[in-house]
Amino acid sequence: MASLALSWSTTSTAGLPLRLDFFIKPPDSSTHTTRTRPSTWSCKATNGGQNEKQSPQNVETSQGKLDRRNLLLGMGGLYGAAVNLVSDGSLASATPITSPDLSKCSTGTNLNTQQPLDVNCCPPVSKEIMDYTLPPVRKMRFRPAAHLAGEDYYAKFEKAVGLMKALPPEDPRNFMQQANVHCAYCNLTYQQTGDPNLKLQIHNCWHFFPWHRWYLYFFERILGKLIDDPTFGLPFWNWDNPNGMIMPEVFARKDSPLFDARRNKSHLPPALADLAYSSRSPTNPKKIIPNNLTVMYSEMVRNVSKLEDFYGAKYVVGTAPDPGPGSVERGSHMALHGWIGESTPTGEDMGNFYSTARDPIFYSHHTNVDRLWTVWRGLRGPKPKDFPDSDWLEADFLFYDENAQLVRVKVVDTLDNEKMGYVYQDVDLPWLKSRPPARVKKSKAASSSGAPAAETVFPVKLDKVVKVLVNRPKKSRSKKDKEKEEELLVIEGIEVDNAKFVKFDVFVNDEDDKPDELDKAEYAGCYSQVPHKNSTKVKTKIRLGLTELLEDLDVEDDEKILVSLVPKAGGEDIIIGGIKIIYVS
Ligand code: C2O
Repeated sequence: MASLALSWSTTSTAGLPLRLDFFIKPPDSSTHTTRTRPSTWSCKATNGGQNEKQSPQNVETSQGKLDRRNLLLGMGGLYGAAVNLVSDGSLASATPITSPDLSKCSTGTNLNTQQPLDVNCCPPVSKEIMDYTLPPVRKMRFRPAAHLAGEDYYAKFEKAVGLMKALPPEDPRNFMQQANVHCAYCNLTYQQTGDPNLKLQIHNCWHFFPWHRWYLYFFERILGKLIDDPTFGLPFWNWDNPNGMIMPEVFARKDSPLFDARRNKSHLPPALADLAYSSRSPTNPKKIIPNNLTVMYSEMVRNVSKLEDFYGAKYVVGTAPDPGPGSVERGSHMALHGWIGESTPTGEDMGNFYSTARDPIFYSHHTNVDRLWTVWRGLRGPKPKDFPDSDWLEADFLFYDENAQLVRVKVVDTLDNEKMGYVYQDVDLPWLKSRPPARVKKSKAASSSGAPAAETVFPVKLDKVVKVLVNRPKKSRSKKDKEKEEELLVIEGIEVDNAKFVKFDVFVNDEDDKPDELDKAEYAGCYSQVPHKNSTKVKTKIRLGLTELLEDLDVEDDEKILVSLVPKAGGEDIIIGGIKIIYVS
């Protein structure tokens, strides 16, 4: 995992025993360049190579291995013409998402009823937008595990958040303004630039990790500036480790600026964070830790050998919102939003996307999500870590920086957290060794189950458990076949109302029907969505890795698998369009 070797005592509670002696220079300030935006987006990568840390073999397409930098630079001659490299190696129209026009922010509409929403999260409009360049890193920020940080650290953190809350309400750095930034980008208040018929949504797609990285980056820099500490880093809530699963106590202290009253009272300390949370069926407390570790293994290792399965699906100009969430986004990340928010249908604050960033714990929750991105990259070894697509790398967003300057930032600058000036405290990854065993190893179990064939069942409403037989177009695959192609279960045409909390789990060849037990090879993954303030139908899909799962169940020679879809929340509001197995190289 990419992090600096800091001298650190995990047992210390007396503040941060940080060795900062290798940080030599005085605080830097952000550097900006003012550029006029070209009216047509071009392939010429102004940042070409700036963040290249990975070697060329880290970028791969179906056509073989490619050096992204050479491609971007080499295509410089094409700028002016809207041409773009996509991950299959072909050229297509250049259509990355571009930052929204802030003056066209609408307070939002309930898209079903066409009534205006009673929430306004539009940010202040500023005419001057600067293209942001990452400042040279002179002082590295250090992001500690929340459960290991000491009193001195929390004194600083609380002071900074208190000062942020005390800024004038119209200051874009004010805490509520910051919370609104999240609301605006997720509650369908902006139009997509380039397609006024569509709304902009940076969740449930490949921009989830980069967008939130930028969001935390500026939030952290604003806090650091307010307390005049250029090394200040946000704490991460280490919920993927049993030692850190309880909500850090300071967030639950009523007199702290980190407190929020709108939370589920039964999930305050000492409750253990439930990464498989669903409002309907409470998890047996004994199962929480083993379930959590399996969930993490599944999201970080088992289901994510293809980039799309970790990051989420491609989203460009013209794509309807929510093309498909990645493994962490739809799983542990979504579960904890719902787990912390009030136990009401709308789930404020954390459990609803318009209000979620009003709870200070949001930032520690997401700092852990961001850390998991860094961890995942470290686990990839020589495998590709980034989409080579300009449609991803060149997408841009707007944020207010620590000087209240409106800046335009790009995905390409988020690929290396050290280049962004921060590192994470190194902690154990207990889920790495949590490859779950099979409950039952039995070939041909599916065919003898008597379940109907998938083709005869869909579309179907998920108001009950649905079990179907799914054909495997290829069976008895050799080790080489498996290395070449990942076998994926695709669940598509998932229609949900995004004003509702919905969740379903997916199991393969699971006959014992104990859907609360996830610590078994039969558990394939989940789909989950917390409510938004607006209400609109979205159609989305998920892909779940099967290669290792089928090996663990010892059914590589079977022609069919038995798939169980188990509704865990809001099943009556979920329609499933279809299921199929595909092979992706
Ligand atoms: Cu922007 Cu956890 O959501």
